Amino acid sequence: MGIERVGIVGGGQMGAGIAEVCIKAGVDVFVHEINDDLAAAARSRVEKSLGRAVEKGKLDETGRNEALSLLRTGSDLDAMADRDLVVEAVIEDEGIKKALFEDLDRIVESTSAILASNTSSIPITRIGQATSRPEAVVGMHFFNPAPVMPLVEIVRSPVSSDDTVERAASFAADRLGKTVVHAKDRAGFIVNMLLCPYIIDAIRMYESGFATKEDIDAGMVNGAGYPMGPLTLSDLIGNDTMLAVAESLFEEFREARYAPPPLLKRMVEAGLLGRKTGQGFYSY
Ligand code: 3HC
Repeated sequence: MGIERVGIVGGGQMGAGIAEVCIKAGVDVFVHEINDDLAAAARSRVEKSLGRAVEKGKLDETGRNEALSLLRTGSDLDAMADRDLVVEAVIEDEGIKKALFEDLDRIVESTSAILASNTSSIPITRIGQATSRPEAVVGMHFFNPAPVMPLVEIVRSPVSSDDTVERAASFAADRLGKTVVHAKDRAGFIVNMLLCPYIIDAIRMYESGFATKEDIDAGMVNGAGYPMGPLTLSDLIGNDTMLAVAESLFEEFREARYAPPPLLKRMVEAGLLGRKTGQGFYSY
């Protein structure tokens, strides 16, 4: 069965970015948010991003209008009923994700529909177990900013079916034009398992007073060719998400290199860092 109707749950940075990628590929998209104001905000995020693409001459007016005609947003999760693929992109909280997958299991009608999670680190096996169809559950991990970063990690649980994995991978590669890599179901998959300790080390370096955040970032941009420094990247990802990823990795592997730095934990828990407040290391 082809994938023509996609649902995205969560219209934040990642959800809106994934929606933009899909509508630009000619796919019908419904984005769910928890209330109408957030649903409208998700739409305006996509509109702004497409507006920037038009200004830069990367997209013409017709292309923008065609793409936007494929986008609906709203707060009714039942609108997921006719979707061929649903990509969950809500906050990195296992309880919230599992409750949502239970709902999607009840709502999404087609037995060949794929239920995907854009989780950064939570094992797909555990998310899939919240449904009665874990064989249809897979990880589709996009990277921030989704319209720019070419990668999608496809993560299979031990019970994801070959058909689910193949159709999710081929949708990402052939329809969305993304580069696909395959990972087995371990916390952090491929990229975050390598990226997270690097960012954590940078936060520890800053926390210890060894170097300023500006010098740490400038060091990696100018000395190692990274497009942005690790602390700027942690701000872009969202420090609340970074903490959640570190906690998942530490829970799974119990290795000190994944342990969340106290500064990150304390400041996120105090609401001083994180996407909700829009504050990052460079807010201070
Ligand atoms: N949406 C759409 N397009 C965007 C964008 C966004 N949010 N941000 C930037 N762009 C586009 C710009 O329009 C520009 O396009 P153009 O070259 O065609 O004009 C292009 O990206 C470059 O943008 P800028 O010139 O404004 O800025 P930079 O050259 O500094 O690039 C960046 C910005 C693409 C974010 C670059 O700094 C970068 O690649 N940073 C690293 C990002 C990264 O590592 N992401 C992965 C994070 S890990 C993750 O997501 C996993 C999760 O589970 C934690």
